[in-house]
Amino acid sequence: MSDATTKPMDDIMSLCKRRGFVYQASEIYGGINGFWDYGPLGAQLKKNLRDAWWEDMIMNPCWGRTGPGGERVRCVPVETCIIQNPKVWEASGHVGGFNDPMVDDKETKQRFRADHLQGGYLGSSPAGDPALALAQMQGQITKVEHIPAFTITAGGPDEAAAILLADRKLQKLLGVSDANILPSISPGAAPLLQLTYRGQPAFAFIFPVSGAVQEHAHAQIPSPFTGKAGSLTAPRQFNLMFFTYTGATATENDKVYLRPETAQGIFVQFKNVVDTTRVRVPFGIGNTGRSFRNEVTPRNFTFRSREFEQAELEFFCHPDDSFEWYKFWRDFRMEWWQSIGLAGENLILREHEKDELSHYSTGTSDVEYRFPFTAPGFGELEGIAHRGNYDLTQHAKHSGAKLEYFDTDRGETLPNGAKKGERYMPHCIEPAAGLDRGALALICEAYTRDESRPSPEIMKFHPRVAPIKAAVFPLVNKDGMPEVADRLHADLFKRFGRTGFVETDAKQSIGKRYARMDEAGCPFCFTIDGDTLTDQTVTVRSRDTGLQDRIAIDKVSAFLTDALLA
Ligand code: GAP
Repeated sequence: MSDATTKPMDDIMSLCKRRGFVYQASEIYGGINGFWDYGPLGAQLKKNLRDAWWEDMIMNPCWGRTGPGGERVRCVPVETCIIQNPKVWEASGHVGGFNDPMVDDKETKQRFRADHLQGGYLGSSPAGDPALALAQMQGQITKVEHIPAFTITAGGPDEAAAILLADRKLQKLLGVSDANILPSISPGAAPLLQLTYRGQPAFAFIFPVSGAVQEHAHAQIPSPFTGKAGSLTAPRQFNLMFFTYTGATATENDKVYLRPETAQGIFVQFKNVVDTTRVRVPFGIGNTGRSFRNEVTPRNFTFRSREFEQAELEFFCHPDDSFEWYKFWRDFRMEWWQSIGLAGENLILREHEKDELSHYSTGTSDVEYRFPFTAPGFGELEGIAHRGNYDLTQHAKHSGAKLEYFDTDRGETLPNGAKKGERYMPHCIEPAAGLDRGALALICEAYTRDESRPSPEIMKFHPRVAPIKAAVFPLVNKDGMPEVADRLHADLFKRFGRTGFVETDAKQSIGKRYARMDEAGCPFCFTIDGDTLTDQTVTVRSRDTGLQDRIAIDKVSAFLTDALLA
């Protein structure tokens, strides 16, 4: 697959709209910021992604592999409510601490996350040597009071650099021109640009504007929307949970929250699952569904939305085994995303630094994808966190329920050979994936341009997630071909229709019909032509190569079974 940096996000978004993958929510009313709907192809793509997660995490976890203890991994599902007793969110820490620091621009009335402010720090070097300029700037940035020359809102410095380079209007606003990105001088360093700033040649180093600078010097920091200082407010904490009221009275006592994550539904049903099923630790509970966060700045298409879908697993284990299980899940989750088509260099597993970890966590990794809008940087698809026993302990404390687990497989061995048992609060490993970000990564990865084809946009989805599995075309709409096509279509639909559309289409030239299927990501088209009526063969045309072959009509189903499993 081609490099994400070469894929134009505007073209991807326009194909998504044109072919019915993603639409703006409430579009006929002008849309609503941070909300997206899926069209027919997008809905099926996301269902295939959700089904793949469900099969490989719940029904046949980890493809039947054994875990660190040598036993097969076991998991069960739950489906929990979006609205829970508000005490759930007090116990989990979301009421008190699920905040983002928010800054307003008083002039433009725009709002953004303080931690998304990236600063362009300027430096020069008499010899025009970027290394000297960089060293000078690095020395200055460590000083809290050092104010950037211009700012950009973005998830990170790489994304900010990409936005600046692509957006001429923004460049004009910020007083920047002739901007070029320089090869990084030190590995992993923030981006270094050579540019003209207000008519003067300079080097700019893009670096997050630190919280300390914003607290004390917000009045001097230039606005990312106008380039002028003096209009930004100091950061204020903003709770991301949406709320509503139950019942008709709508008093403060009736206030409830829309869940910001599916995970807490699992913790609060942990005891019921243990008491009503035969699971025993170690085991996992999975939950999928909508979550809601009132993001300060929804951005980058569906990447940061206000309503999105999560697929989360809480894997409960003995504290002594927890680090081994953490490593097991971290590695499996990376392999899983690779297995559905994110197999190239655009996918990485990033272990968090110690200072990035929550106080209760001994390890967290992110599976990250290089989206066109984050390139050359990466954006998070899934976090795999070692959460210790934090959540169960919090819920036990706040609810009074006894959430400890009595493990009959542990403890001393008694004279009769049985174990004495051990009571403990299980530790938890949490692989938490976002299905909308997953679908977006699949879309970005699949998007391929081949200028040698009459219609150059091709969606090379992995066959498992492709929303259309096959198409059957009569070459012309006469001479008995439509009847044969209908029969083959009905047969393929019976076998493959559970996992995707099987299309048939008799309109337009065959080339145009192939091109439509390429854009929709259909892996194979089968065409009934004059020869079919005499020798019972059909043309099979591959999306990825554009090449055609002939196979017997009664072998089509077996061919497709093999090809889709590939
Ligand atoms: N229970 C842990 C938890 O919710 P998270 O990292 O906040 O962790 C997990 O969320 C995943 O949910 C993320 O990796 C991402 O894929 C997805 N996600 C989070 N916020 C999102 C948003 N605003 N829009 C789309 N997806 C989001």
